[in-house]
Amino acid sequence: MAIVGIAAVDRNGAIGKDGKLPWHYKADLRFFKEQTTGHSCVMGYRTWLSLRDVPLKDRLNFVLSRETHVTRFPSVIFLTHHESVLELNDRSRADTYIIGGAETYRLFLPHVERWVVTEVPLAIDNADTFMPENYLDEFAVNETRDLGDGLLVKFYSRRHKGGVVQTWRGDATQNLERL
Ligand SMILES: NC(=O)c1ccc[n+]([C@@H]2O[C@H](COP(=O)([O-])OP(=O)(O)OC[C@H]3O[C@@H](n4cnc5c(N)ncnc54)[C@H](OP(=O)(O)O)[C@@H]3O)[C@@H](O)[C@H]2O)c1
Repeated sequence: MAIVGIAAVDRNGAIGKDGKLPWHYKADLRFFKEQTTGHSCVMGYRTWLSLRDVPLKDRLNFVLSRETHVTRFPSVIFLTHHESVLELNDRSRADTYIIGGAETYRLFLPHVERWVVTEVPLAIDNADTFMPENYLDEFAVNETRDLGDGLLVKFYSRRHKGGVVQTWRGDATQNLERL
């Protein structure tokens, strides 16, 4: 199934500060949950730490780390190579959401087929983690959704040769059936 990047980004491309999200928007958290439920989520170890031992419910949680880890959660799987994610995705009936942070987005840049980006109406002071530059260069918007609170979600698809954009809708209604 598809490899989809999902991120919430401020006006300057910032996504994190001090190991955390630099904002708290319920509407975006709800949207993230709806969008990713029933699918696999791939995160870097620092993002896993930010979840404070609470795996994302109703999703397989893949955590990338070069270290070996033991986990007590059946839905959390540690992987030492990002290529394993690509192998697993090839065999999966669910989509694979790359949920960050910056190092992890960078690793999967060549493989992401779609981006789901929430534009956050803030400019965070002293942010320390940013989206990779030009990550949307080969993508075009094909849907926009207003979440309220000034949050705008844009759904992007990779532009194919000849400028054709493959359309898709961020329809999460069937997600649970894929779990
Ligand atoms: N706004 C958003 O949408 C959003 C989403 C997610 C996260 N964030 C924020 O982003 C920040 C964290 O991002 P980050 O870039 O610092 O870290 P990250 O991508 O979450 O995690 C980095 C870690 O992933 C592991 N890793 C990286 N490359 C690897 C590879 N090739 N093979 C195996 N493991 C690999 C390493 O873990 P080891 O050191 O254990 O080897 C590395 O330290 C936090 O502030 C978080 O809140 C924001």
